[in-house]
Amino acid sequence: MFSYITHLECPQCNRSYSADVHAGYCVCGSPLFAVYDMMSIIDEINAGTFPANINSIWRYAQLLPVRSPSFVVRLGEGWTPLLTTRHLGRHVGLKLLRVKNEAMNPTQSFKDRGLCVAISKHLELGAKSFALPSAGNAGVSTSAYSAAAGVPAHIFMPEDTPKSFFEACHMYGAIIEKVPGTISDAGKEMKNQGGNWTDLSTTKEPYRVEGKKTLGFEISEQMGWTMPDVIVCPTGGGTALIGIWKAIDELEALGLLDFKKPRLYAAQSAGCAPVVRAIEKDTLTIESWENGETEAYGLRVPSPFADRLILNALRGSGGGAVAVIEQEIRAARSLAARMEGMDFCPEAAVGLAGIRHLVETGEIDYDEDVVLLNTGSGSRYSFKYDTSET
Ligand SMILES: Cc1ncc(COP(=O)(O)O)c(C=O)c1O
Ligand SMILES: [Zn+2]
Repeated sequence: MFSYITHLECPQCNRSYSADVHAGYCVCGSPLFAVYDMMSIIDEINAGTFPANINSIWRYAQLLPVRSPSFVVRLGEGWTPLLTTRHLGRHVGLKLLRVKNEAMNPTQSFKDRGLCVAISKHLELGAKSFALPSAGNAGVSTSAYSAAAGVPAHIFMPEDTPKSFFEACHMYGAIIEKVPGTISDAGKEMKNQGGNWTDLSTTKEPYRVEGKKTLGFEISEQMGWTMPDVIVCPTGGGTALIGIWKAIDELEALGLLDFKKPRLYAAQSAGCAPVVRAIEKDTLTIESWENGETEAYGLRVPSPFADRLILNALRGSGGGAVAVIEQEIRAARSLAARMEGMDFCPEAAVGLAGIRHLVETGEIDYDEDVVLLNTGSGSRYSFKYDTSET
């Protein structure tokens, strides 16, 4: 059996939906979660043996939503290295820092996990074209997977997104719209145009989170079915955070693991930090951030749709959120490159600088085991030079 998905469920109001017809989000306004037949998976995987010869997210196919392998569009997504840094941890005050290097994905970012799964599943449900607003990487990923599937992709991106993202979408043959403002404005423009496409907007359909949750499976499997003390996620719309938290729930339900749960931290840029503000103010929802500006374009998400789920994951795990300023982002990017030979995207540099703050404020101890997501390659962004801290 390929997928053991049974149905979709709303984590807010518990309404159920079919996983065999198109579904967006719940009538109550919450994102939907995919639910699986865990008892059958337990019988099948027999003590945690996922097929070791499948070095991609599809080694976890039973826990992914696509029923028929014939709909899966594969480009080699996932099973990225979990690297133990040699020097970088020490520079941010840690004994051990590991980096999950998502730049190794087919279009150079972690967006490939979510979009590979979502596009494959929606093709199975009959989708004929796709559209999404994007800060850059999700647009490139959607363009590539749509090209591989042979269907059109419509990408709405803020006009100030680095040129290389437009060029990559163009290379894959996508239809591109440049929109003034942020990803929220790009989303509004997409809605105004209202084409007959399948909407892949962050957490407004249930399957991108399913792909992202493989990050949690992989980190755990690569650590011998344990978990680190802390995972730091550069956070915009929150799919990775929510996905990793869901993965932990599922691994626990499968009884595969006997491990402590990691604390999850969202790292944001001080120029657009709605999640950090909500954690500081202890609110249940996330208030929109006006006039967000940051070089870490993927984190310029003023109003994440899955706000309650993001806050649940952070609070439920005992973690939190941290913001860093632009100068720290540049310095952290230089540090990763010079100290470790790693090409961090600015979003991951936010995470690295955030770790330093969390260690300084005593939220993370020196000898805790910390995993940082390098969510994408730095090569698509120009390098604003700052080696003042190296
Ligand atoms: C490189 C990079 N890191 C992090 C993020 C934020 O991811 P999420 O929206 O899943 O929180 C993005 C989103 O565009 C991104 O491109
Ligand atoms: Zn609901």
